[in-house]
Amino acid sequence: MSRLLRIDASARLHDSHSREIADYFQARWLQQHPDDEVVVRNLMHNPVPHIEAATITGFYTPASEHDAALQTATALSDQLIEELMSSDILLISTPMYNFSTPSALKAWVDQIVRIGHTFNFDPEKGFTGLVQGKRAVVVTATGAVFSNPAMSAFNFLEPYLRTLLGFLGITDSHFVSIEGTTTDEAAMENSKRTAREDIDHYILGTA
Ligand SMILES: Cc1cc2nc3c(=O)[nH]c(=O)nc-3n(C[C@H](O)[C@H](O)[C@H](O)COP(=O)(O)O)c2cc1C
Repeated sequence: MSRLLRIDASARLHDSHSREIADYFQARWLQQHPDDEVVVRNLMHNPVPHIEAATITGFYTPASEHDAALQTATALSDQLIEELMSSDILLISTPMYNFSTPSALKAWVDQIVRIGHTFNFDPEKGFTGLVQGKRAVVVTATGAVFSNPAMSAFNFLEPYLRTLLGFLGITDSHFVSIEGTTTDEAAMENSKRTAREDIDHYILGTA
């Protein structure tokens, strides 16, 4: 049995294209892996707060030296990291907001990217991601059509998430993009159809 951790970032609880395709992924995944467990972190129902000064102090202070205040300041980060590390597959569904990730998702990222826990730094070897042996699937929804080469320079969402996942050690990442949700209905329907086919194919490969 594996565990799928699903992170939903759209501010829209209804009519969200990224959630719709993540729902499709989850349903198909459970068809193929009926004994798997799904843990859902809905960032709208349970928003992750921004890190604070004490959280940062806690990140750079060994746990053995944490007083009660630092334990409290890092408790949510501990929990979110445990959720991530105990999962086998990470499913992120996210819109593009202003060329990049919604702040709700960035707040989660800022809690889980933590030295000594999810990455390490060595002056000689550089950075090492500690989130190993996992795969990630990322569903993005964008109003514009970024497969249009004229638009690609504006897409800081997918390159950012690819870099972030790789930095953490998740090298097996798969992106599914829903495009044109506010500008081009035909492109949107086409990308949804392609996304479903792509997901079917991806999930068959995990049998
Ligand atoms: C605050 C905000 C900012 C947005 N910024 C962009 C943007 O920079 N580029 C873009 O293509 N679409 C942008 N959009 C459109 C969304 O990416 C699009 O509506 C997407 O489908 C939202 O995801 P959802 O359907 O899962 O809610 C923006 C939407 C909102 C609400």
